Amino acid sequence: MEFTNLLLECAEGIATVTVNRPDKLNALNRATVAELSACFSALAGDETVRVVLLTGAGEKAFVAGADISELADLRADQAERYALDGQRLMDLIENLGKPVIALVNGFALGGGCELAMACTMRLAAESARLGLPETGLGLIPGFGGTQRLARLVGRGRAQELVLTGDMVSADRALGMGLVNRVVPGEELAQAGREMASALAAKSMLTLRLALRSVGEGLQMAQSGGCGLEASLFGVAAASQDAREGCTAFLGKRKPEFKDR
Ligand code: COA
Repeated sequence: MEFTNLLLECAEGIATVTVNRPDKLNALNRATVAELSACFSALAGDETVRVVLLTGAGEKAFVAGADISELADLRADQAERYALDGQRLMDLIENLGKPVIALVNGFALGGGCELAMACTMRLAAESARLGLPETGLGLIPGFGGTQRLARLVGRGRAQELVLTGDMVSADRALGMGLVNRVVPGEELAQAGREMASALAAKSMLTLRLALRSVGEGLQMAQSGGCGLEASLFGVAAASQDAREGCTAFLGKRKPEFKDR
């Protein structure tokens, strides 16, 4: 696949997607949103890809937001369509059926923060700054940010960040659960590769079921979510990989999963 605003590398079951507009701090223009959608759709169907890493080009930014030059003159109906297009991309990433790890290597603002939040996990460089600054532009987040942030960090902190538009440091983001880990910038790529390799060695069937249980369960009342979990636990437990995993543990050897 050829892209103008993305780099894509695949090796050893791990795809690395890099948003590549460093002169605009990797801001998401419409063309980049369309390319990300095409890229993630292809990665979803590619069985050789087990885990995806997502990052931004350059030293300064993961993604500094939606491209503000495309936001100045939108009518309400155009803006709503724009938001729905962005939300479809975030939903695609969130529900990819395989882990997507955001490597937040700098500013993750607005649509960039929303993109990171749609990922399965977030590893951040110490220098990263995250936030939803849309109110400073007379806007509100439109790519699912008000919803995902509240689910990740709770209503009070989400309302604080959305209303003030303040950026938070990587450490504060870690403290509130907005990112999973913080590492020195020069160690971020390696930390991402290690986490991705550890996940790639697991059964894809198991990972897919676990992602469904958490993701779909969160859309339900707890009792419904537990019902879903029990049913997916049944699918997992009856799999060849569960037999292999348990037998390998009892035999004191490493399991060899077949994704079945
Ligand atoms: N959309 C479009 N262009 C953007 C952008 C965005 N979201 N964020 C940065 N850029 C562009 C700048 O316009 C500038 O382009 P230029 O060199 O052609 O003038 C370039 O990227 C570098 O950004 P600059 O502002 O000069 O860098 P900085 O280090 O001084 O500031 C930020 C960095 C992230 C604080 C600042 O760029 C910023 O506030 N960006 C907008 C963040 C935002 O509001 N995002 C939500 C959008 S809904």
